[in-house]
Amino acid sequence: MPKQSDISTAQANSGKPPVDLISTAQANSGKPPAHLETSSVRIRTRSERQSTLDLSASNLFAGSSASSIAPEDGTLVDEFGRVHDDLRISVTDKCNYRCVYCMPEDGMEFLARKELLSYEEILQALEVAKSLGIKSVRISGGEPLMRRNLMTLVAMISDLGIEDISLTTNGHFLGRQAQDLHKAGLSRVNISCDSLVPDKFARIRKGGELARVLESADVAQQVGISPVKINVVVMKGINDDEIEQFCEYGRRNNRIVRFIEFMPLDAEGKWSFQQVVPGEKIVERVNARWPIEAVDEAGPSHAPALRYRYLDGMGEIGVISSVTKPFCGSCNRLRLTADGNLRNCLFAREELSIREILRSDSSIEDIQTKLALAFRLAVSTKKAGHGIGSPDFIRPNRSMSMIGG
Ligand code: 5AD
Ligand code: SF4
Repeated sequence: MPKQSDISTAQANSGKPPVDLISTAQANSGKPPAHLETSSVRIRTRSERQSTLDLSASNLFAGSSASSIAPEDGTLVDEFGRVHDDLRISVTDKCNYRCVYCMPEDGMEFLARKELLSYEEILQALEVAKSLGIKSVRISGGEPLMRRNLMTLVAMISDLGIEDISLTTNGHFLGRQAQDLHKAGLSRVNISCDSLVPDKFARIRKGGELARVLESADVAQQVGISPVKINVVVMKGINDDEIEQFCEYGRRNNRIVRFIEFMPLDAEGKWSFQQVVPGEKIVERVNARWPIEAVDEAGPSHAPALRYRYLDGMGEIGVISSVTKPFCGSCNRLRLTADGNLRNCLFAREELSIREILRSDSSIEDIQTKLALAFRLAVSTKKAGHGIGSPDFIRPNRSMSMIGG
């Protein structure tokens, strides 16, 4: 197993010209609503960024107005009745890839080690979250497998009694760790893969190796992780010509391919609506080749993906239309960033720091009470929706790698 230091410097250079999102998009037609033409707000680097809405122990609980709106008891239900039972935990903002829809090739500043929550701190927060109704955990990043001994964290979460533990990964380091992760309690995995053409894969996901990622997916399936899902961020003019190939791959290997609309969460702020391939169009294309039908969820579905099964029984696909058909109305998610901020939406503009609470000298009971209040506050201040389609939408100042996917 490579040492952490090896991994963090392992940024392979594909030697290929970058995929230029903007010029490709310009070559495409299709008029977006005026306010969606470009996202002019560039994501600030960490040093440029204002600190988060710092509602940490010192000021939140000194009687700020914010604290007074947090319900003092009860589970995590927001003012729109959405029950929050899923926590996404980012364990690092680092990544050995530089996907064009996420990170720029140069200039990313990463968190210092001491800024990251330790596994013990994560667990302390999770224990409280569990008591408030959190039932499932997804571990994400950056690339979560760049954090040393991730299987230890998985085992700790599993020992806490959380049965549904999943991982979102770029797949690069998964092959060699899949067995241990599964033994530790990992049940499901989502692997990002945006092209099945090696050169193109390396251009979209700079530093990425297609063969290695596909092998990881095979290994994960062999060791019993189920399901293994493949996440494809579909970008017009870049990889939308591969939709059918991805379906063939999924059908052949019994994997659920999930097509994700490109969201304004790239660190460089180059996203534009012209690059989004609407989920509806994807469904139409797949259906034209292999007829599909929508899968009726048995119970209430919180999954962002609309599921479609092939009528010939060869499995299913997922389509995540976060931009054109947001699923905010059924959102059950909360996020904890690697530096210990609670975030109630991918597109939130504010975060709530719990790191100082975790690191304070107070008694365990006191810390737990404050953490519970913080979780409730995060949920009670959640907006109805992200409003990407609204003229006053302002993109968040963190990319996916900083938020946690
Ligand atoms: N738009 C859509 N999906 C994204 N991801 C990262 N950035 C974006 C974006 N701008 C996805 C990756 C991965 C997960 C972590 O988030 O494909 O599956
Ligand atoms: Fe890394 Fe994932 Fe961002 Fe790609 S999308 S650069 S794999 S964190």
